[in-house]
Amino acid sequence: MSAPAIVAVRDAFSRAPAPAHPIAIALLGLGQIGAAVARLVHEGHAPARLTTALVRDVTRTRPHCGPVDLTRDIERVFASRPDVIVEVLGGVEPARTFVRTALERGIPVVTANKTLIARHGEELLDVAVRTLTPFRYEASVLAGVPFLGTFAARPLAARVSKLVGIVNGTSNYVLSRATAGRVTIDEAMADAQRLGFAEPDPADDVNGIDAAHKLAVLAWHFGLGSLSPGELETRGLERLHPLDLAAAGDLGGSIKPVASIEHTSGRTSAFIGPAFVPGGHRLAGVTGVENALLLDTSSGRLFFSGPGAGPIPTAATILDDVVEASRGAAPVRRRGGSTAVIAPSTPWLLRVAGTQAGGEDIASFLGAYGIWVRRAHTRDGRTWRLTYACSRERIDAAVAALTAATACDALALRALED
Ligand code: HSE
Repeated sequence: MSAPAIVAVRDAFSRAPAPAHPIAIALLGLGQIGAAVARLVHEGHAPARLTTALVRDVTRTRPHCGPVDLTRDIERVFASRPDVIVEVLGGVEPARTFVRTALERGIPVVTANKTLIARHGEELLDVAVRTLTPFRYEASVLAGVPFLGTFAARPLAARVSKLVGIVNGTSNYVLSRATAGRVTIDEAMADAQRLGFAEPDPADDVNGIDAAHKLAVLAWHFGLGSLSPGELETRGLERLHPLDLAAAGDLGGSIKPVASIEHTSGRTSAFIGPAFVPGGHRLAGVTGVENALLLDTSSGRLFFSGPGAGPIPTAATILDDVVEASRGAAPVRRRGGSTAVIAPSTPWLLRVAGTQAGGEDIASFLGAYGIWVRRAHTRDGRTWRLTYACSRERIDAAVAALTAATACDALALRALED
């Protein structure tokens, strides 16, 4: 197994205490998360004050944010001499340039930007290490659950061989509510946007891209290698039918938005997408906007869960990072190297119209592809079959043949082992 990407926080036990004066924070971005940071600061929840906020529109009223100098000029932000810069712009540019410049000038940075960390985390951490400048990104994954920093300071526990979890709060919220049957997926999505869970482009939540960015951050942070999010098997919720959710329940489980990465025998395998989770699995009870991660570490199996999205939990994590960053602990890293990722063999949940394909029983049809059925369930003219583990190549070939033989779309979702 490769070494953890971040092996220690520099001299973690001799860090300076947080400054006696309120920590001066400059915000890059004042959207839902930035406004929540401003609000918590204004209401006195952190030993901090807000100096400047970089925004697109300096004329817009910002209720609950308290007094703050709004500017469109990044140099004015740097000139306000903040103790810490909080980047919540999202996306790659201009966030990357601003964060890089701040680190080069020795200004500590806290960010919640998973896209930025997934694509340029290594480069930015290199700058932070070179300039001995604190750089923290705790809220980029499992937004309201403080756990990345815990592992950064505990390199032995951070020897992780497998991570499986739910890392997108919006899609878990949407699937949980649709499974409960009270609302459609579209209605649940509208609620997720109203509650501030969703991305500025909510398509990134449902098509798996947000989860792919977070899995790349996790892989890098835990030394499983630098992955390109675009190379990960990433499936979204688009092809799910409400009956899939009901059938999963009939089979004793549920469909959840799963992200998984495993490093064994020198190979890394990963996937992201809606998957069948058996009722007895640790992820089965993770509902609503909650996120969770199950980690196989050298210390045993660890489980973390908590709020995965939402302005206030995310802002609280950011402000705890701000306090840590103000103590001056600079990160040190060890290179993990880039890694090629393969698609794992897993069990599958296969949905097919009817019980026959080309005049043949579907179980026999699948047997010809080396796919063995463990359990089957029929509902409203469709059948769902839980298979034993097999490769994606086999299941893709069988799905294409089934679709041709039945003239109906077959769908294969990955399933977790019990
Ligand atoms: N849109 C993201 C989610 C926000 O729902 O998980 C937190 O990263």
